[in-house]
Amino acid sequence: MFISFEGIDGSGKSTQVDVVAEWLHSMGREVLVVREPGATPLSEAVRGILLDAPYSIDPTAELLLFCASRRQLVETVIRPSLAAGTIVLCDRYADSSTAYQGFGRGIPLELVEQANMLATGGLQPDRTFYIDISIEESQRRAQRRGEQRLDRMESAGAEFYDRVRTGYHAIAIHNERFVRLDGTEPIQGIFEKIKDTIRQYL
Ligand SMILES: Nc1ncnc2c1ncn2[C@@H]1O[C@H](COP(=O)(O)OP(=O)(O)OP(=O)(O)O)[C@@H](O)[C@H]1O
Ligand SMILES: [Mg+2]
Repeated sequence: MFISFEGIDGSGKSTQVDVVAEWLHSMGREVLVVREPGATPLSEAVRGILLDAPYSIDPTAELLLFCASRRQLVETVIRPSLAAGTIVLCDRYADSSTAYQGFGRGIPLELVEQANMLATGGLQPDRTFYIDISIEESQRRAQRRGEQRLDRMESAGAEFYDRVRTGYHAIAIHNERFVRLDGTEPIQGIFEKIKDTIRQYL
């Protein structure tokens, strides 16, 4: 089973990935957690460029970097793991490019889809948990976490995030694999809903 987690910064993706992985482990399942961009040496190097570059990156170049990172991850880690029967939990996946580079940066969605197809070879998650919070809540959580220095994506501004969030809503409506969760509910409540969905698969 291949599961991805999506949502704007601070929505609670990594929090849920952690508890879901622990729960699956406790039931004796093989679980692999990966994050995007990252999780392979090449992908982590690309992550460094994408999040920390001290120069501006052309939006399409940005999309291609995310997709290069994704391609390496899919081919060297995700596909072999799924073939071995491992449950793969992915902290962000191709929908992030649609939301951020497509809706956020304004790259035509057909092009983003083509780039994603090249990267994934058509490999889609069985379920995507979309954790939704408002832009204000995202900013509150960033402040609470005491983030002194914003990374390149995080410093893009509120209008950008508004477009990204609108994009996620649009993607969620058009894809049956999406499960939308209210990210302002307690962590445990969100976790219970995720468990209910995953149980139907196991
Ligand atoms: N349901 C929740 N209610 C309140 N706070 C939460 C909830 N889920 C997570 N948090 C808190 O919000 C912050 C961000 O959570 P987390 O790191 O899981 O988000 P994320 O989506 O992985 O963010 P990023 O995109 O920046 O990696 C953390 O301090 C976490 O403890
Ligand atoms: Mg995270």
